[in-house]
Amino acid sequence: MPKAWNQNRKQEYYYKKAKAENYRSRAAYKLAQTANKYQFIRRNDIVVDLGAAPGGWIQVARKKVGKKGFVLGVDLKPIESFAQDYIKTIIGDLTSPFIVNQILEFLPRKADVVISDAAPNITGTWEVDQAKQIDLADQSLKISLQILRLSGNFFTKVFEGSMLNDFVKKVKKHFAIVKLLKPKASRAKSSEMFLLALDMKSNIKLVEKLSKENS
Ligand SMILES: C[S@@+](CC[C@H](N)C(=O)[O-])C[C@H]1O[C@@H](n2cnc3c(N)ncnc32)[C@H](O)[C@@H]1O
Repeated sequence: MPKAWNQNRKQEYYYKKAKAENYRSRAAYKLAQTANKYQFIRRNDIVVDLGAAPGGWIQVARKKVGKKGFVLGVDLKPIESFAQDYIKTIIGDLTSPFIVNQILEFLPRKADVVISDAAPNITGTWEVDQAKQIDLADQSLKISLQILRLSGNFFTKVFEGSMLNDFVKKVKKHFAIVKLLKPKASRAKSSEMFLLALDMKSNIKLVEKLSKENS
């Protein structure tokens, strides 16, 4: 059977599944599959979702954290409201120097988990797209280091390519366990991958440096 045909069938499968299960995006399954396997979002957690529109990941995270948890979604675009409570969405730019304060304003305490599916507009030029994707992942990391509690978890989209190794090395400095993953719901032919970083280590000096940069 041709590979492309199989790929289209898989995408069609997740598209229909998302419609039937009332998820706002097929991307929801990328988070659901990883979170089910690694259990890095737990009941009562506070989750911050960076690049969250239209909201599929928010829906998955909200199911995991339950009514005593809280999910904050951030995106450049407005996100349509949800039927469930304990979800808040804000318009924000991950690259803005004010974003950390903007996020912290809405959190009752530091976050347990930061998830980021933030993606740039694709230009079609491979090097440019890879660099932009790694920049957004790096920006998400920077934010995470300031809003996560000690031992918190971080999950972000990345692109395969020459810049990925350096990014993984950087994340390893801050988290005890770092894994690169390709969930089943992610297109096999796309360069998209996900990085899961568990158990943030303490790094008071870095947090102080980053908060000074933002003040
Ligand atoms: C693939 S979509 C996210 C899909 C989402 N996880 C879901 O399941 O519905 C990527 C999002 O990243 C957002 N984004 C890209 N750059 C951003 C930035 N600098 N700040 C905030 N959001 C950004 C885009 O607006 C877009 O909505």
